[in-house]
Amino acid sequence: MTANPRVAFFDVEADAPWAAAPYGADHAPKLERFFARTGPLAGRTLLEPGCGTGRLTEILARAVGEHGAVHACDISPRMCAAARERLGGLPQATVSLAAMERLPLAPASMDLVVCHQVFPHYEDKAAALAFVARVLRPGGALLVMHFRDRAAINDVHRKAGTVVEQDMLPDLEAMDALLTAAGLRREYFSDDATLGYLLHAVK
Ligand SMILES: C[S@@+](CC[C@H](N)C(=O)[O-])C[C@H]1O[C@@H](n2cnc3c(N)ncnc32)[C@H](O)[C@@H]1O
Repeated sequence: MTANPRVAFFDVEADAPWAAAPYGADHAPKLERFFARTGPLAGRTLLEPGCGTGRLTEILARAVGEHGAVHACDISPRMCAAARERLGGLPQATVSLAAMERLPLAPASMDLVVCHQVFPHYEDKAAALAFVARVLRPGGALLVMHFRDRAAINDVHRKAGTVVEQDMLPDLEAMDALLTAAGLRREYFSDDATLGYLLHAVK
């Protein structure tokens, strides 16, 4: 692992409620909207970079079932350890201690890439999306989800006074430019204070 200051930051955060607390009732409509975009996942192969403690990963692993696969990864050893413990009984899920961009995945091997509450933290967003586009099969999808809206996320980061204070979710115009440059096309976008942020792009 390189000397990425975000690794130390997220390691310390692995026990924080925002990272480890079980999802509550307020998350249900957000997840419902997410699964309305993914469609049925049984048997699908997914990548979830920046899985944290694996709360969404567990839901995804159950959704793909025993004939599917979820490749999760995170740069933080403590986040990975928590995710592995959570996912212990689900062999269809694997957790790699790695930055997404370093995963040895075959081109066109993924049906879906889920970036859940991680996109602002990619230092090189163009390179991250180029990687996503490379590993997606033609017709595969990218979902970028946050449980809060863009304004709230960027405000939290801006005021954090930590290594994440410049980690911003781009505005839609910039996001579209990044997607297009990577060979992806936006199909759906919603960003509001109630349901948070969801962007769906296809290859
Ligand atoms: C805000 S947390 C979100 C974690 C989890 N998805 C959740 O919603 O609880 C962002 C996570 O992304 C990880 N991360 C940051 N950059 C990454 C990268 N390039 N590749 C993989 N993981 C990364 C961090 O270690 C951290 O656990």
